[in-house]
Amino acid sequence: MTAQAHEDHEAESKHTAESLNGTERSVTNGRYPAERAPQPVATRVQPPRYAQIIGWGYEVPERVVTNQDLEQIVDTQDEWIRTRTGIEERRVVAEPLETTASLGTQAARKALEVADLHPAKVDLVICATSSPEHLFPSTASIIQDNLGITQAGAFDLSAACSGFVYALSVARGQIMAGDAEYVLVIGSETLSRMVDWTDRTTCVLFGDGAGAVLLAASDVPGGVTATVLGSDGSGAELLTIPSGGSAAPASLETVSNGSHYIRMDGRAVFRFATRIMAEATRQVLDRAGVPVSEVDLVVPHQANKRIIQHSVLRQLKIPEDKVYVNVHKYGNTSSASIPIALCEAIDEGKVAPGDNLVFVGFGAGLTWGACAVKWSVPIEKPETSWWHTTQRQAAYQAAAARSMWKRAIRRLYSQVEPRAMTRRPVRKPDNEQPTP
Ligand code: ACO
Repeated sequence: MTAQAHEDHEAESKHTAESLNGTERSVTNGRYPAERAPQPVATRVQPPRYAQIIGWGYEVPERVVTNQDLEQIVDTQDEWIRTRTGIEERRVVAEPLETTASLGTQAARKALEVADLHPAKVDLVICATSSPEHLFPSTASIIQDNLGITQAGAFDLSAACSGFVYALSVARGQIMAGDAEYVLVIGSETLSRMVDWTDRTTCVLFGDGAGAVLLAASDVPGGVTATVLGSDGSGAELLTIPSGGSAAPASLETVSNGSHYIRMDGRAVFRFATRIMAEATRQVLDRAGVPVSEVDLVVPHQANKRIIQHSVLRQLKIPEDKVYVNVHKYGNTSSASIPIALCEAIDEGKVAPGDNLVFVGFGAGLTWGACAVKWSVPIEKPETSWWHTTQRQAAYQAAAARSMWKRAIRRLYSQVEPRAMTRRPVRKPDNEQPTP
């Protein structure tokens, strides 16, 4: 970095820190507002907007399942798993309390706390997941309700392990279009409930967890600067859960033949992944105008250490210390793997204002995606006083009470007004009745 560039960077970081620490929040022209005042789109004057990551958090179940534990249930060896995948252990949810929504809620809560943002200010909740609570309602809606986010849209995004990068891209688009100020992007998975624990070719690979980031509109240049998304549905059957959807609804037969579990052609996915991770990283850096040599940290999808080595490390010649790997601790947590890795990288001091980051992932679909991020926010977490913590707890308790109250009112209505639920169709005159 030249002296001038260094000075510019220092000045930009200072400006960023002031803006994003809140000292400028009340005066920044409505783009990082203390109070939002919606205006008609046509009359808005729109200076450049950037989508900055201002909060982050992750949650993993307490229960650890080691390779040695797996040796007890399938014909596998710790040595095989370590050398072929790099995985040493993974986290698995405890029945029945931990779910995709509960993990996602905790991760999102931590992201809001880092950003010191009241949940009521969030405009959109996106939950990337391949293991949603239900086909519908969305897991995002459940998380929105858990957090007491009262004025936001919420939806799930299905792009398998690429889901978090896809969701980040959508969130950035919403912010840059001026449709949202704050977007919660969550990747949450409980794939341990989707794997066949008698199939050694898949059960050793996956783990559970959730990660979240809070994206905010800002006038500070940087944040998520470029994205690349891709899909090749001709590879759909290489990694799939064949049954349980509309193509093969759940039945006694689908359950007895185990087709509601993950099925995978590991070798084919491996070949695809090593090619596409390097390609997507190159493309997104081109779009962001950042040379590979200026990348400070790559946070790749954590599926297999060998895939990371064969792609970003070897093909792009990015040095090992600039590629974050934690697959040994958590296995493949699908859409949660990148945000969990990002949070751990931040905790370990590997991310600093001014850094160029790349998030890159691949997954079923086949899908892939990459985001280039110019990190522009200070890393230190806000001081939390006793009063602040109490206020937060009260807000979450109020959210839970509000949700219970609304459910109770609905139940009451359905009891006192049964006809509202089973309204009879208006009978047309006989001569207008449709004929069969
Ligand atoms: N323990 C011991 N032996 C095993 C195990 C196991 N857990 N699993 C497979 N083997 C055996 C196979 O049966 C095979 O034996 P054989 O030669 O007698 O037939 C041998 O090991 C080699 O099997 P391969 O499948 O060729 O092993 P490979 O080196 O390709 O590694 C792996 C398999 C780890 C699955 C690798 O192909 C891979 O990582 N692929 C990518 C998978 C992936 O990332 N999926 C997630 C995508 S993200 C998403 O969207 C969910």
